[in-house]
Amino acid sequence: MKSALIIYRSKTGFTKKYVDWILEDVTCSVTTLDKVKMVDIDQHDIIIYGAGVHAGFISGLKKIKKLVSFDDKKVIIFATGAAPNAEDIVKPIIDNNLADCISKVDFFYFESGINYENMSFASRGIMKTFSKMLSNKRDKTEAEKEMSEVIKSSFDNSKKEYVGPLTALVKEYIG
Ligand SMILES: Cc1cc2nc3c(=O)[nH]c(=O)nc-3n(C[C@H](O)[C@H](O)[C@H](O)COP(=O)(O)O)c2cc1C
Repeated sequence: MKSALIIYRSKTGFTKKYVDWILEDVTCSVTTLDKVKMVDIDQHDIIIYGAGVHAGFISGLKKIKKLVSFDDKKVIIFATGAAPNAEDIVKPIIDNNLADCISKVDFFYFESGINYENMSFASRGIMKTFSKMLSNKRDKTEAEKEMSEVIKSSFDNSKKEYVGPLTALVKEYIG
């Protein structure tokens, strides 16, 4: 039986919630990205990395690319973001973050939300600026109009059922 390790970074709790849902369905070791040095990555066959999307970039992914050999392991990456799971949202995330390795990894995007209460002061400032910029933007697309309204306050659209395809894949890889 193969062994799986989840590495994650979660600033406001959404990615952690998805990690907990994954762990309800499959047995994996787990660590945060901050503590990854305390874990022997080589002992695991399957590496799952999860983190939030910040201004289009998957947080911590650059560090993971340096730490994990995508050629030697099964690598699954999941990103959580406030935007809905739609092709025009997910494609730029893949293009921005995974253009160099998409053929070697399995990627999942999980819709989450915004949690202003758990956000750092700096992040709150960035979100405020982004929100203002979006509301002042002319000729907004429907998605942008919707986004400019919803990000004004905290919300949570995360759902356990979203992890189903990921956990099915982990079960297949574990064998
Ligand atoms: C500074 C900042 C930038 C963000 N940028 C995006 C973004 O570009 N796209 C998106 O869908 N969500 C964005 N979000 C929302 C986060 O991706 C979402 O809340 C994520 O699930 C956070 O994960 P975490 O709570 O595990 O850190 C942003 C949040 C913050 C605080």
